Amino acid sequence: MVGLLHSDAVIRNVTVSTELDPLLPLVRGDRIQLQQVALNLMLNAFEAMNERANGERGVLIRTGRKDDQILAAVADIGHGIAAGEAEKIFKPFYTSKPQGLGMGLSICRSIINSHHGRLWVENNPDCGATFYFSLPAPAQDLISKQG
Ligand SMILES: Nc1ncnc2c1ncn2[C@@H]1O[C@H](COP(=O)(O)OP(=O)(O)OP(=O)(O)O)[C@@H](O)[C@H]1O
Ligand SMILES: [Mg+2]
Repeated sequence: MVGLLHSDAVIRNVTVSTELDPLLPLVRGDRIQLQQVALNLMLNAFEAMNERANGERGVLIRTGRKDDQILAAVADIGHGIAAGEAEKIFKPFYTSKPQGLGMGLSICRSIINSHHGRLWVENNPDCGATFYFSLPAPAQDLISKQG
C-alpha cells in the first residue's frame, strides 16, 4: 500500500518511511479489506499534515508482533486528536474536513473487528497521532513457536 500511495505522497510532499518486521507470519484475512484499512489510515495521516510546511510532512509505518498479536502502526506529525475525540472519530459520519464523509475510520474499525483485531489511536508525545491495529497471529504460527 505504501507503493500504491507513492504518487499521492509525492504530490502532497509527504515522506513515508517504514520499519517493517521481516519475520511476521502471514495473517489470514480479506486482503482487499485489510488494504483498505491501510489506505484509509495513510490518507488520513497525509491529510492531518496539510497545515505543515513542505519538507516537514512525514509518516512512519511500523509493523511488529506483541504476544499473540500482529501490530501495525501509522504515525504522523499532524495536528493530533483533540482531548475527548479519540472515540468520536471512529463513529460513522464524524468528520472535521469540509469534503470529508467521515466513513473512513468507521469502516476501518468494522473491518478490523471482523478480523478479531483492534483499532485505536494515541496522540504522540511530541505532535501528531499514531493509529494502531492488531490482528491475531495465525494459530499455526503460535504452535510452531511453542516448539
Ligand atoms: N491522522 C489523523 N490525525 C488527526 N485527526 C485525524 C486523523 N485521522 C482521522 N482524524 C480525524 O478523524 C475524523 C474522521 O476520520 P475518517 O477517516 O473517519 O473520516 P474523514 O477522513 O473525515 O472522511 P473520509 O470518509 O473521506 O475518510 C477526521 O475528519 C479527522 O478529524
Ligand atoms: Mg478519512
